[in-house]
Amino acid sequence: MSVMIVLGTQWGDEGKGKIVDLLTEQADVVVRYQGGANAGHTVKINDQEFILHLIPTGILHSDKICVIGNGVVVDLDQFFKEIEELKVKGISVEKRLFVSKSAHLVMPYHKTVEKLNEKNKGDQKIGTTLRGIGPACVDKVGRTGIRMADLLNEEIFTARLDLNFRLKNTYLRELGQDQIDSLKEESRKILTYKDRIKPHLVDSSVFLNRKIKQKKDILFESAQGTLLDMDFGTYPYITTSHPTAGGACIGSGVGPTLIDEVLGVAKAYTTRVGDGPFPTELKDKTGELLRNSGNEFGATTGRPRRCGWLDLVILRYSVRVNGISKLAVTKLDVLDNIDPIKVCMSYRHKGKEIDEFPTDLDTLLNCEPVYQELPGWKKTTRGLTDYKDLPDNAKKYLDFIEEKTVVPIHLVSTGSKRDETIFV
Ligand code: IMP
Repeated sequence: MSVMIVLGTQWGDEGKGKIVDLLTEQADVVVRYQGGANAGHTVKINDQEFILHLIPTGILHSDKICVIGNGVVVDLDQFFKEIEELKVKGISVEKRLFVSKSAHLVMPYHKTVEKLNEKNKGDQKIGTTLRGIGPACVDKVGRTGIRMADLLNEEIFTARLDLNFRLKNTYLRELGQDQIDSLKEESRKILTYKDRIKPHLVDSSVFLNRKIKQKKDILFESAQGTLLDMDFGTYPYITTSHPTAGGACIGSGVGPTLIDEVLGVAKAYTTRVGDGPFPTELKDKTGELLRNSGNEFGATTGRPRRCGWLDLVILRYSVRVNGISKLAVTKLDVLDNIDPIKVCMSYRHKGKEIDEFPTDLDTLLNCEPVYQELPGWKKTTRGLTDYKDLPDNAKKYLDFIEEKTVVPIHLVSTGSKRDETIFV
């Protein structure tokens, strides 16, 4: 494996959790490099289900090391809650879960600011997960964020906290002074994690580069997806980090020449949670069927996901901006009873056909998908583990994806369990 990035090629929820869990068997270290507790990675092992938001799913393997890189914004309440939940299920994180000293904290006031933001944006709201991710990243860029290392020095932490309340006061005034005071008190309590977080803190760049020199296998686990990237996503309906391949370098301190492979995870159809453009969205019975068969409800917010056909314009775009070298196709079995299956080949905008994904909102909102129909297979693929057992039309569907993206498919997921997978 050497050094591999696993990322989402669509709007997140591609089933990365399961793929990362599988590939972790070949890795020594698993790294999260962006996002925060807005992610929801679901892994099923035998009959136990694990949903992790912040801690890398690699933690479910007792002999693996996990790192939360500097690019992640960390909610310590959530971090320790997940550690406790893992403990209850018999999983210890001791001496194998590390967090970058430079990672920024998600503070209680970030969640409050986000709720106010979303409310005040009215019909231009983003539909965020309300986990405080956006405001924490705004503070990072605005140079007022509080980092893990600041937690180790009470004086610095207090000064940063005071600065934040001073700057945010005008904005928070909507809440009333009593609520502002209790919010500050709640935020101050984050300091009580100081001693508990200390043994987890490292310089992620030093740590990971050392591991790479020792020829360890490293797996970078992205959260969200390419179309939610701050620069390459459907701005402004994006998350506030870089789920793309470049984000792995920035979010961990590992240089690009050390990355060997980029595996793009693509769902066999498309989903999106939250607001924003979605050219192949189906607001009909087929969309409903995909939602129900695919159990398309957010792991973090429980919101129903919007569902639609596979969009090859998006997939080709993802291959390009991430330099994807291999694909994993997930949830193939969800298409088992759909016939015919449509695939978006290009878009039509003002009478013109376009092949490249448009990066401006107006064009994207006004383009129509141009579809090609492929025959369905109308047989169950659920749980298949051998490529040769796939129905012919399912093989043709996969071949079509490979041919149009010019990227080989490395694995196909046919169910939510670890072993419901075909290695091609
Ligand atoms: P935020 O990341 O909470 O700021 O939300 C920004 C946008 O990203 C919203 O549309 C969310 O629904 C979406 N989003 C955030 N995390 C995920 C995820 O893990 N899967 C899918 N969508 C996500």
